[in-house]
Order: sequence, then structure tokens, then C-alpha cells
Amino acid sequence: MAATRTLSRVWPSDSRLDERGRLQVGGCDAIELAERFGTPAYVYAEDDVRARSREFVEAFRARTEHFEVLFASKAFPCTAAYRIMAEEGLACDVASGGELHLALAGGFAPERIYMHGNNKTPAELEYALNAGVGHVVIDNFTELEWLEANAPGQKVLLRVTPGISGDTHSFISTGQADSKFGFGMDDVAGAIERIDRLELRGLHAHIGSQLLDVAPFEELGKLLASMGDYPLLNLGGGLGIAYTEDDDPPSVEDFAEAMLSNAPDGVTVLCEPGRALVGNAGVTLYRVGAVKEIPGVRTYVAVDGGMSDNLRPMLYGARYEAEIADRFGGSDVVTVAGMHCESGDILIRDVSIESPRTGDVLVIPATGAYGHAMANNYNGVPRPPVIFCSGGEAREVVRRETYEDLTYRDV
Ligand SMILES: Cc1ncc(COP(=O)(O)O)c(C=O)c1O
Repeated sequence: MAATRTLSRVWPSDSRLDERGRLQVGGCDAIELAERFGTPAYVYAEDDVRARSREFVEAFRARTEHFEVLFASKAFPCTAAYRIMAEEGLACDVASGGELHLALAGGFAPERIYMHGNNKTPAELEYALNAGVGHVVIDNFTELEWLEANAPGQKVLLRVTPGISGDTHSFISTGQADSKFGFGMDDVAGAIERIDRLELRGLHAHIGSQLLDVAPFEELGKLLASMGDYPLLNLGGGLGIAYTEDDDPPSVEDFAEAMLSNAPDGVTVLCEPGRALVGNAGVTLYRVGAVKEIPGVRTYVAVDGGMSDNLRPMLYGARYEAEIADRFGGSDVVTVAGMHCESGDILIRDVSIESPRTGDVLVIPATGAYGHAMANNYNGVPRPPVIFCSGGEAREVVRRETYEDLTYRDV
């Protein structure tokens, strides 16, 4: 019998090709999953999500007892994911009232939640306070004044814009001075002075996402540590992942080392990974429909999803790989197109796959972060289900939207 094959780090660690060359995720056959749950579908190797959470916690724990790993839940705001992260002992960062609602539904203790947002509404702040959220991360003077007036004694962090930017797409770079997020360096002292009735526990900064170099985290730690004595320093998230085999992200060990490198003794360092916890643990299954060959130009392989289930290629020019679920490898260079009424609805331009045909299951790896999170109903397309696979068992944790769901809110 032919041996099974393990896959590159772009794929879930708990995935492989079986002896027939068919993709298995969490022990489940991708083609059978497509038949059972339909396509498109987000499929996660549940054990991989847990393993990556533990890897973060263990990397920090090996170096210090003063740390906290927060799940940056914007990457995958799904009740079942919150539940896993809470079970694995992580704390949680939410960026809206909706994410807070999901975090609570997923079982996070409110005091383990950090509430972010550059424009939290009074209603969201009230919700957070009533829920007993542990920390509010103050982003601007408007919010500071509101909290001073309405939330005496509330524990807070102050988000600063440190003027450090990592090498990444401008849309996901947040640490540079010209940013909508946080207090500019010139405003920090004034903001701290203004705090009277709140309990300022520390500073926060997030310099950007999909960072493939840890040096900016060291720089950030040094800067924040020099800005005052606080019990907490939150250095944000942003550790990059491998979307394609060409990406070479730093290890979690290197990330932890960099984050802790300039931490003063006794100060608790917080980090907020999002994509590094879930990105590579998930894949998206699609069904191939039309294959349109334009001789001498290109071949479009159209799938039954697109920018409604993965906005990142359109938003950031993000690059992915793809494979046919039972024919990995191959050298037919094609363009994977979505089914939306936009010429720009292209999931992957010029990717090599094996003779794609109508009816094939096409799989895009590394879609576990910001796929489900950014899913939308463009063209009235119902959003895909989320399937967790472990030990050969598949469970639907979010069902597919129906057409009835699309009219559900009509009044
Ligand atoms: C404040 C904050 N923390 C954490 C993250 C998570 O980033 P990533 O998913 O790249 O780790 C983000 C992403 O936008 C963020 O804005």
C-alpha cells in the first residue's frame, strides 16, 4: 500500500494525503466533507487549533511566569473557537460589542476579556462594563472622557501609536504615526495625566499584522518599557504565517523571545496573536464549476465562492496556494476565480494545480484567519459553514446560511 504523505506547513499540522492521494484534515476526507456539508466550507483541524494555542502558552511559560496570551478573536470570531481558546487557558481580545457577545457565549470569563476598538460606542462600552470586562483598552480622548465619567475604578490600558511599523501591507500596518488607532506619542503624557478615576494598568500597542520579522517587537518592548512603570505591557499580535511555501515566518519561540527581551522584571507581558493561532489550522473547500480557457491568455477556474468567503485577496492582494483535493501537485497554471459579479473577484492568480475539472473539490489552505471573520453576503450569497474535524469525526459548529436567513431581518 502506498504511504501517506505529510504536507507543508501551509496546511493544518493535522492534515495529510492518504494512500489514494486524497486530502485528510483532522482525519476526515476532504471530498467526503464537501459532499456532506456542501461547498464552500471552512474546515478546521481542531487539534491543530489547540496545539497552536498550547505552543504559544508553552513558549512564554518556558521563559517567564509573567505573561498572558490573548486570542485576538477578530481573526476567527466563532463561538466554538472562543470555547477552545478559553479551555486552553488563553485570555481574549475583542474589538466590538459583537465579538464580546461571542466571547461570552464561548465561555470566556468576563475578567479575562480585553475590549479594543478605535471608536467604541457608548452602547458598546456600557455592554462591556455591565458584563464585567476585565480591561478596556482606551484608544482616544473621547473614550477616555466617557470612561472617566461613567466607569470609576475600571481597569484600563492605554493604546499608543509607537511610530514603529513592521514591513507589511499598509492596510494592516497600525503602528506608524499616521494611524487611526491609539494615542500618538505626543499625546500619551496628556492622556495619562487625564486619568483620575480609572485604574491605569499599562500600555498597549499593535504595530501591524503578518509580520515576518520579530525585530520590531523587541523595539516595541523597549519603547513601552521606557514609558513608565506599569504592571502590564501589551505588545499586540501580528506574528505572520505561511500563506504559501515561499513565506518563512518566525517561530513562536522567536516571537516569545522578542516579546520578552526587554520586559522589566515582574512586568506581565501580554501578546495578542490572531492569525498565528488559527490561520494554518483551517482550509476552505470549494467545488469547481466553469473552466474557461482563453488560448494564449489564461485559464479561469471558477469556484462556488470567492470574495464573500475570503476578502483578503481583494483587500490586501493576499496570495494563496490551491490544490485539487485528490490530485495534489501538478503544473497547470490557472487563475482561480470567484463567482461574484466583480472582475476583481479573483482568489488566486497564476497558481499551479493538476488539470482542474468541473466537479473537482478545490482546496485553499491557510484560510483559518480572517476568512469566516470577514465573510459577507455580497450578491446574496449565504455564508459557508464552519466544520471542526478531529480524530476522523467532523462536527458543524456554524451551519451554512440559508436563503431564508437572507430575508430574516426584513421588517
Ligand atoms: C489590536 C490588535 N491586536 C491583535 C491583532 C491580531 O493580529 P494578527 O491576527 O495578525 O495576529 C490585531 C489585528 O488587526 C489588532 O488590531
